[in-house]
Amino acid sequence: MNGTVSASGKAILLGEHAVVYGRPALAIPLPQLRAVADFRQTRQALTVYAADLSHRPWQWKSDAAASPDPLVRMTALTLAHLGICAPTGEIKIRSAIPIASGLGSGAAVSAALGRGIAALCRATLANDALNVLVYEVEKLHHGRPSGIDNATVVYEQPVCFQRGQPRRAVKPTRRLDFLLADSGVPALTRESVAAVHQLLRKEPARANSLFDRIADGVVAAQARLASGDERRLGELMTANHEHLRELGVSSPLLDALVSAALQAGASGAKLSGGGRGGHIIALVEPATASAVKKALQSAGAIRVLAASLGG
Ligand code: PMV
Repeated sequence: MNGTVSASGKAILLGEHAVVYGRPALAIPLPQLRAVADFRQTRQALTVYAADLSHRPWQWKSDAAASPDPLVRMTALTLAHLGICAPTGEIKIRSAIPIASGLGSGAAVSAALGRGIAALCRATLANDALNVLVYEVEKLHHGRPSGIDNATVVYEQPVCFQRGQPRRAVKPTRRLDFLLADSGVPALTRESVAAVHQLLRKEPARANSLFDRIADGVVAAQARLASGDERRLGELMTANHEHLRELGVSSPLLDALVSAALQAGASGAKLSGGGRGGHIIALVEPATASAVKKALQSAGAIRVLAASLGG
């Protein structure tokens, strides 16, 4: 049996980092950016290829279960969940999602691989189970993941996510357009999450007050999404960027990209994801999108993608 399965990337609209500490955050899937698993039945032991991820091909062995390698760990967890000991076949992972840039590459690759293994084994892997497995692997990527990445890429729906709470769907009343600008600087989420944790240990009152202000912005943004107030939503995104700067997870290049987007007419802009590199997200109106895109490119973005929500 041959076939292809996939999972989308994601972008965080507001609330990253604070979400690790129990505050809410808003995220959207990026259906046009996908991690794909091509699977093919063979008689050989399961072999996984992931050249796009600079990963050498490897063949499944049951003693690999404790590996710290995310692809091997995802394979082991999925097989254990499905109750399969000796899988056969091959899976080729391809991904259009830039690595270490805040767009959920790790979670999407894990989700695509889990779906590929289930398909190869003709087994059912429900999204609720996949979400739990991908979260386990996210621990290798993030250290202390909130769960927002796996929840957004697995269910592929805009979400207001809060640890320990049921997922709340996000339904904007009108279409919103975003630009995602890649700073070209890879940055490990694990490191920025660790830096915020350090700040929380050293200055708990300051860090918690920033988390609370971020959370207030997320709650207000949800109301603006519902009322379709794009200007105010943009202002909340820009304020969120300032809070993330104060948490120490921005960079001069990310700040320059945010300023360029705002000066060119974006309604709001902020870093998106772990920060220190990776992407910024700008809220734009159709009339300003092209000027904002040009400004982002002039300010150093190596790539600018369009994304939308609702409508
Ligand atoms: O994977 P990234 O870089 O999009 O970051 C995810 C968002 C964080 O809040 C920084 C971490 C987390 O697990 O929520």
